Amino acid sequence: MRILIVGAGGQLGRALRRRALGRADLARGHGVVACGRGEMDVTDLGVRDAIAAAEPDVVINAAAMTDVDGCERDPDEAFRVNALGARNVALGAALAGADLVHISTDFVFDGGKGDAYWEFDRTAPISVYGASKLAGEEWVGRVHDRVYIARTAWLYGIGGRNFVTRILDLAAERPSLEVVDNEVGNPTFCDDLADAVLALVHTRAYGICHLVNEGACSRHAFARAILDLAGRPDYPIHPVDHYPRLARAPSYAPLRNFAAAQAGVRLPPWQDGLARYFERQALVADG
Ligand SMILES: NC(=O)c1ccc[n+]([C@@H]2O[C@H](COP(=O)([O-])OP(=O)(O)OC[C@H]3O[C@@H](n4cnc5c(N)ncnc54)[C@H](OP(=O)(O)O)[C@@H]3O)[C@@H](O)[C@H]2O)c1
Repeated sequence: MRILIVGAGGQLGRALRRRALGRADLARGHGVVACGRGEMDVTDLGVRDAIAAAEPDVVINAAAMTDVDGCERDPDEAFRVNALGARNVALGAALAGADLVHISTDFVFDGGKGDAYWEFDRTAPISVYGASKLAGEEWVGRVHDRVYIARTAWLYGIGGRNFVTRILDLAAERPSLEVVDNEVGNPTFCDDLADAVLALVHTRAYGICHLVNEGACSRHAFARAILDLAGRPDYPIHPVDHYPRLARAPSYAPLRNFAAAQAGVRLPPWQDGLARYFERQALVADG
């Protein structure tokens, strides 16, 4: 199977490349092609032909405008990348006769359900980022019929800038931190998501699926777990109920992995993922 990763420069894209190259079935015979923005800009319609020329069996689109506040400031760019760009990649996959995995987000929900969201729940984004990602899901489905739409949440990966690195950096500078305890979601390790996606592509279980590490927690509990693993169990983190930012985030939007689990694709608990992130990140730092 030949896999093309679009958006390969991001934290998930890099994890996908690394985990795919670690699999003997894919590493053999140039089975993994990884393209960052410099090689494939999804907003360029020419990406369609470039994808077809790579002759993939599966295309995984991990490219997106992920700066949630930036999307509020520049909705045109958000929709150009997250909606039209997603469509362009889907057109390329269709032209190549390849299956497509399109990565989406918990931000397609408003967080008002009061329970975990599964794949059959009504979407209602409350931010430009969420609306642009939902438009991406819809437009991808209009131009290609062999598509896996994998919604995920709260990603952190080796070498990426994310909530984990932000908490560690802030705790290194300040005597204490304030972190919201009324935003609940699923912290998800990019390596675990990458493994799940690489398993998903063998299932033909097309359609929407939720892929997050099992279990949910608040941002405050996540920050506590990060600093505990970093050897700072006594570092003070105060729970607060408001964090000033431009974009609204769904307050309670844990995802339930239902559809993929029916096809045998499951992810480990988030605490387990976080512990392995610390181990692998330390290996990278040690050179
Ligand atoms: N991060 C999260 O917490 C989270 C949560 C839920 C869902 N997701 C979804 O998961 C996927 C991967 O996210 P991530 O965390 O890996 O984000 P990331 O680290 O920001 O990576 C996104 C990548 O997309 C690239 N990109 C942006 N515009 C592009 C364009 N026009 N053409 C080609 N590439 C472009 C970026 O390149 P530059 O670096 O050059 O901008 C970056 O390398 C995205 O679909 C995102 O919506 C993320």
